[in-house]
Amino acid sequence: EVRVYVEEAPGQRREIEAPTDMSLSLMEVLKASGYDIQATCGGMALCATCHVEVLAGPALDEPGDEEMYMLETLPVLSPGSRLSCQIRITPRLDGLVVRLMPII
Ligand code: FES
Repeated sequence: EVRVYVEEAPGQRREIEAPTDMSLSLMEVLKASGYDIQATCGGMALCATCHVEVLAGPALDEPGDEEMYMLETLPVLSPGSRLSCQIRITPRLDGLVVRLMPII
């Protein structure tokens, strides 16, 4: 298992434990933890409702072309913006801190 953290308000982080042996995406883990993510595209990098901002933690692999393309269509983007459906839960993710981005 790895621990990821969701910043729900400034300075307020919720710890979530995620299994690393099920090939889950961060989006799936966030949904299973009760966060209201529509994920209308089912994790295909097509809807951007799973947009998160990475605030801290280990370096992630660069976004793929499809993720990059989708991110560039968003009106609100930060340097840490990612689609959580494209982030695979692996042991390397331990300590990741994200914030859910509002859907506009
Ligand atoms: Fe649709 Fe991630 S769930 S882009």
